[in-house]
Amino acid sequence: MSESSAPGRLSDAVLYQIYPQSFADSDGDGVGDVRGVTERLEHLAWLGVGAIWLNPCFASPMRDAGYDVSDYFGIAPRYGDNDDLVKLVDEARGRGIRVLLDLVPGHTSDRHPWFRASAQNPDDHRYIWAQEVDGALPQRFVPSPGARPGGYLPNFFDFQPALNFGYARTDPAEPWRQAVDADGPRANRDALREIMRHWLALGVSGFRVDMASSLVKDDPGFVETGKLWSELRGWLDREYPDASLLAEWGDPAVAVPAGFHGDFFLQFGGAADGLPLRSLWHTHTATDREEWGDAPCYFDAEARGSAGTFLSAYAQAVATIGEPGHVILPTANHDFARLHCAPRPAEQLPAAFAFQLTFPAVPAIYYGDEIGMRYVPDLPDTEGSVLGPHYNRAGSRTPMQWDQGPNAGFSTAPAERLYLPVDPDPRRPDVASQRADENSLLHLVRDLIALRRATPELGPSGSLEVLHDGYPLTYIRGGRYLVVINPSARTVEFAHGRTGLAGATPVRHSGVAVDADALTAQPFAFGIFRF
Ligand code: NOJ
Repeated sequence: MSESSAPGRLSDAVLYQIYPQSFADSDGDGVGDVRGVTERLEHLAWLGVGAIWLNPCFASPMRDAGYDVSDYFGIAPRYGDNDDLVKLVDEARGRGIRVLLDLVPGHTSDRHPWFRASAQNPDDHRYIWAQEVDGALPQRFVPSPGARPGGYLPNFFDFQPALNFGYARTDPAEPWRQAVDADGPRANRDALREIMRHWLALGVSGFRVDMASSLVKDDPGFVETGKLWSELRGWLDREYPDASLLAEWGDPAVAVPAGFHGDFFLQFGGAADGLPLRSLWHTHTATDREEWGDAPCYFDAEARGSAGTFLSAYAQAVATIGEPGHVILPTANHDFARLHCAPRPAEQLPAAFAFQLTFPAVPAIYYGDEIGMRYVPDLPDTEGSVLGPHYNRAGSRTPMQWDQGPNAGFSTAPAERLYLPVDPDPRRPDVASQRADENSLLHLVRDLIALRRATPELGPSGSLEVLHDGYPLTYIRGGRYLVVINPSARTVEFAHGRTGLAGATPVRHSGVAVDADALTAQPFAFGIFRF
């Protein structure tokens, strides 16, 4: 496929996100590990994914599930060791799958040796330190845990001190605002290179970059942050031209010009603060913020949304970037509710995947979404998963459901030792039974991936012409494929008014009829037709 034949290009691949804690446990200690992933490569190859992104698997106190790194150069012992990672990378490559790691450049754990040293030494500038004025620290600063007076700036949780990449605007009244080329910021930029080099030399294919826009502080328009990433990208292009850099930025139109190969549409980020993705399939029941309001999304069984917001943000991003394959469209991720989250019925999932896998963005499938694993509500806070009263990420991080056994095949450890409980619903889906059933969601996802890989018109390079952004969503790919998506529980019609569609040949469909003037879609139907 073009993905494997075009080095450095992830844009034709289907990306698959693995949360290592919960994917596969090879040693029965109740927590997933790198060897577990290697053992399950067969599933990923069978599914047809071209690349995997592993959430952080580095040494860490795990207060934010690994996004609090205490050693950038070593795999966390609970996941194995660096040799295990090398083996995973090699075996994955043998199956045409590339492995991307999660790079956390903006902060470390407060247990990282850099921070421990910095908290003792007033001359150290790897972090952002301020002094008290009139007995108070500036806003957001956290008191020093060491002999050093004053306090430090956190980047996310308080135990994640921000690494100092400088400020775009300095101010004599705020002496902690160092210039981007001061010693501390320069040392941190060099360290990023060293970290990337370490893993690239072991064979990894690139990185998903955590909070990529957060590095340079007070940076209007992300000008200095963009310069930093462009410089790193230039280095990467020279030394590791096949490597990919994907951003967690939430604004592809800004992140890609800033130096990334691709960026995710996310529930936050960009001028509209994540509205484009939320307008597509965000339900308000699991990982929600008050300021997001309660507008229904397009993938709403009651047909109350519109695909227009997402489609125009997508069109705008592509107009800026000039390459659809740089825009990544996730089904979900470890920070937000899964696609299968109340009140969304499971019946809607085939239409959601038919959309995601025929749309000209890079599809990213969150582990377990391919079998329709659901967001499990009300789980206890686990390694920093709860962010607020209506914001619990644990429900999206439960063990992969491999089979029907008591632990869903995730682990042989007693259930109470699992990282998170398996979905207690006795009707929970699992890989083994869906693989045995050709009518399952898993088979559909696999077929759609295969169709996408075999049909350039359906991938990022095929053109997109949207005929209707209401219900059913109707578009033409590559001038030859008609796609119809009905996420609603109603039968809906659209008068397409196009000649030539009536005789269209169904490629893959369920419940869509096309005639000379109109098309009709049954509840939750989807259709892909060639004409
Ligand atoms: C974004 C990550 O996706 C999230 O899981 C983490 O808590 C924060 N960044 C902090 O690193």
